Amino acid sequence: MILNKKIAASFLISGAIGVVGLSSFKGNEQPFHSQDRWIAPAWADTLTSPYHDEPLTLANGEELFGLYCASCHGESGYGDGAAGGALGQKPANFHDSLVKKQTNGALFWKISNGKGNMPPFQDVFTAEQRWQLVTYLRKLSVTE
Ligand code: HEC
Repeated sequence: MILNKKIAASFLISGAIGVVGLSSFKGNEQPFHSQDRWIAPAWADTLTSPYHDEPLTLANGEELFGLYCASCHGESGYGDGAAGGALGQKPANFHDSLVKKQTNGALFWKISNGKGNMPPFQDVFTAEQRWQLVTYLRKLSVTE
C-alpha cells in the first residue's frame, strides 16, 4: 500500500511538471525571429527631422555614410560591407522592406542607440548629422 502511494505521488509530480512544461512552451509560441528583430520604442516614431532633404543635407549624409557606415552596410546599403563580421546579427540591408517600412524617427533612434554589432552614434554625431544619415538611407533604398 505504501508503495502504491509513492507511485501515485510520483505520477502526480510528473503530471505537474508536464503541465508547467507545456504552458511555458505555449508562452513561447512566437517564432524566434520576431524576438530577434530590433524594434525601436513606439515614441521614436514621433521624432521628425527639423531639416529639409536639400542637396547639401544629402551630400553630407552620403559623405558620413561612406566614412562610417559603408564598411558594414556596404556602399549601396545592402548590408554586404567587408567589416560585416561573421558572428552575430548581420548589418541591416536598407533595401529590405522591414527597414523601409519603419519611420524616419525609428531609424534615427536606432542610429543613435545602436545594438550589438551596430555602434551607437549618439555621441559621435550631432542630431543634424544623424538626420542627414537617415535622409541618405532613404535615398539609397529608393534605388534598387
Ligand atoms: C561595425 C558594423 C556597423 C557599422 C559601422 C554600422 N552599422 Fe548599422 N548595423 C549593424 C548591425 C550588425 C545591425 C543589425 C543590428 C541588429 O539588428 O541587431 C545594424 C543595423 C542598423 C540599422 C537598423 C536597421 C533595422 O533593421 O531596422 C540602421 C538604421 C543602421 N544600422 C544604420 C547605420 C548607420 C547610419 C551607420 C553609420 C553611421 C551604421 N549603421 C554603421 C552594423 C553596423
